[in-house]
Amino acid sequence: MLNPGRIFRGSLAVFGAGVLIGYFLARQPDNPAGFPVDFDRALAAEPSSSPPRDRGYTTPRTPTTPLHLLQSPAAVATNRQEHDFGLGDGHISKLLPYPPGGKGVRTPFDLWRYAGAGDSSFGTPTLPMPWDKWVEFHRDQKPKLMADVKAYMNRRFNFSGAALASAKMSGGKAIMKGPVARLPLAAASFEELAKLSADEIKRRDLFPFKPLAHPLQTTAHMLFPQQWTMAHPEHERIDVDFDIPDEYLPEFPPPLFLTTHKELGDVTRGREVTLGNYYEIFNGLLTAEQMEGLKELLRPSPTTWFNQTTHRVTLEPSAGVSCLSCHVNGHSNGAIELAPDSRPNQARLRVDTPTLRGNFNLMQFSSKRSIRSMDHFAEVEEYFDGDPGLMQAIGPRGVQKQISNRMGDFNAILDFPPAPKLGPLYKLIPEKATAAELRGEKLFHGKAQCVACHSGPAFVDDYMHDLKVERFYAGRPEGPIKTFPLRGIKDSPPYLHDGRLPTLHDAVEFFNVVLELKLSKDEKDDLVAYLLCL
Ligand code: HEC
Ligand code: HEC
Repeated sequence: MLNPGRIFRGSLAVFGAGVLIGYFLARQPDNPAGFPVDFDRALAAEPSSSPPRDRGYTTPRTPTTPLHLLQSPAAVATNRQEHDFGLGDGHISKLLPYPPGGKGVRTPFDLWRYAGAGDSSFGTPTLPMPWDKWVEFHRDQKPKLMADVKAYMNRRFNFSGAALASAKMSGGKAIMKGPVARLPLAAASFEELAKLSADEIKRRDLFPFKPLAHPLQTTAHMLFPQQWTMAHPEHERIDVDFDIPDEYLPEFPPPLFLTTHKELGDVTRGREVTLGNYYEIFNGLLTAEQMEGLKELLRPSPTTWFNQTTHRVTLEPSAGVSCLSCHVNGHSNGAIELAPDSRPNQARLRVDTPTLRGNFNLMQFSSKRSIRSMDHFAEVEEYFDGDPGLMQAIGPRGVQKQISNRMGDFNAILDFPPAPKLGPLYKLIPEKATAAELRGEKLFHGKAQCVACHSGPAFVDDYMHDLKVERFYAGRPEGPIKTFPLRGIKDSPPYLHDGRLPTLHDAVEFFNVVLELKLSKDEKDDLVAYLLCL
């Protein structure tokens, strides 16, 4: 934990010593190494005739704190302490300080209640204990942790397993019915809930869509769903397992569509593309550069916790992870990690793997980092949690720019899944659509206002938006997040950056509350029917 008292006292000591040295050097007239300026005299010479003006900041200028070491003391605003910047319950003064965050230590599941700084911005490649003890520690901790995770998830969601009869994912997997987020007992229905004001929902703690944390947020890192670890047991972790049932995740393996070969449908014909079979599947279909890019997307390399050192979460040393270990077949297997852009680890948002389909039409990548090209993304992808210092100890990924450009080249031909009901202007073709789907489209462009942020060929505006979801619960604001595209959305559950919305029904309920749309039950069903066409 950051100890503000300790840091403050430490800074005072350093500051005090600096002041004393500077002061004595400056006051010794015959010291040739002393400062050439007599600050006391300089200050005294300032015109004092006009009354002091309130500039809104102070600079400490008393004889005991002279300007020292030729660095002026920084300005300090005089009016800042009482400001909460309109954040109310979301201001740090109202939130709990993060609990200690040593590697492997359990964290509360409701991390949205917490805020503040950690011990350090810098990671180390060292375990907090010897390897044998590390394995033992998790052998003890994991069963209890996973029982608690299960109980927590079941309290939040009713994973009933009911599927929609009306639609399937592109490769044929069932699509789950929702909403599965559980309503608090005090709310009679989602419709009743949506009638309440944001303040009332917050005051009565009724919001069913609070953020979702990584089940082990201190170690965190890449966590693969069961459907993946069954096929790839080398990615099973000793410390934690996935927390969402496979039915509520994308299909595995998902179909892969190429913009350059639409006629092929699923190019893989149901196979998961690997380093072992990519050549056979793609040779003669791709350019030489795309082939090289694809190979690189499939090549495993070490990461913070999947590697050959003891700083790892697999029982055996690991060859590492490849891009397509999560973005399977250019889509997603639902694996999660933490967004790399904040510290401490407890402050990082859980993010589930977005699809790479249709990235050719996106101008903004990553929920928070606002990366502007796929090539750049491939270059910076956070294999080391955004801490390049770890790379030296664990083994570099070391992709040269030329290669990451080619990874971008392959990425750029991954097509969205077919949407046979959409015309060239991205409108439903009336003869092909049902009445409910057409009503849904009208709502999307009208009363439900979805089109304000989800427009164009990918149904995305390429901006980041602050939905200010913290209006509905007392917690730390998550800030602006990029809009995700809705084209092909039926293939990409669960929804929102952290997957807190397991079904499209949950997504519609979420936006109905957050945007205060007051949609009826039928209108919400129509909207889901429309989203399934995109
Ligand atoms: C743990 C599994 C995992 C691996 C391995 C992985 N990614 Fe990702 N990828 C993610 C997650 C999670 C995000 C969302 C990050 C965020 O929102 O900050 C993401 C985001 C992206 C995005 C932006 C998508 C969007 O819609 O904004 C691109 C592009 C991407 N990854 C490419 C890659 C490449 C290239 C590699 C290999 C160098 C790679 N990924 C490896 C999980 C993974
Ligand atoms: C003010 C802009 C805005 C409006 C209006 C809006 N959205 Fe979104 N949408 C977003 C943002 C931003 C995200 C990503 C938020 C996050 O991940 O925290 C998002 C995410 C989603 C997702 C999840 C995508 C994914 O891949 O996980 C769905 C589904 C969605 N929106 C549907 C809708 C529907 C339906 C409507 C209309 C009822 C709507 N949105 C209105 C901005 C908007």
